[in-house]
Amino acid sequence: MVMEIRSAGSNASINKQGHFEDKLTGLDVAVKSASHFPEKWAYFNFDGPNDSFLAQAKPFPKDNCWSCHNAHGAADNVFVQFYPVLREASKHAASPSSH
Ligand code: HEC
Repeated sequence: MVMEIRSAGSNASINKQGHFEDKLTGLDVAVKSASHFPEKWAYFNFDGPNDSFLAQAKPFPKDNCWSCHNAHGAADNVFVQFYPVLREASKHAASPSSH
């Protein structure tokens, strides 16, 4: 899963009061692979110098990312509770006979 981090734009075109997603400022990636990573999930960041992005990255140590995701992500290390589409889908996954 790739998480784009974007700055909050405002006051452009007809958008005078709200905020919208603007420039890409960060790229965090979660990769699930039981055959590559002992903890099944590994976490990467591809931010490079001066607004650039790296072509490769090494996984963070377990305590930097994995621990929080494992303790607080609603399902399988993923923050399902914060994504409306996944929230809705997980209701159906929990009770497959209800739709
Ligand atoms: C203290 C808790 C915490 C830590 C530590 C943490 N995250 Fe997260 N992460 C979150 C939350 C909460 C979200 C849900 C999206 C949001 O709130 O922006 C998230 C979402 C993500 C996502 C989107 C997919 C998903 O699992 O929801 C990625 C990718 C990600 N984080 C990468 C990282 C990386 C890389 C690190 C370590 C450098 C890291 N995270 C450390 C709390 C954490």
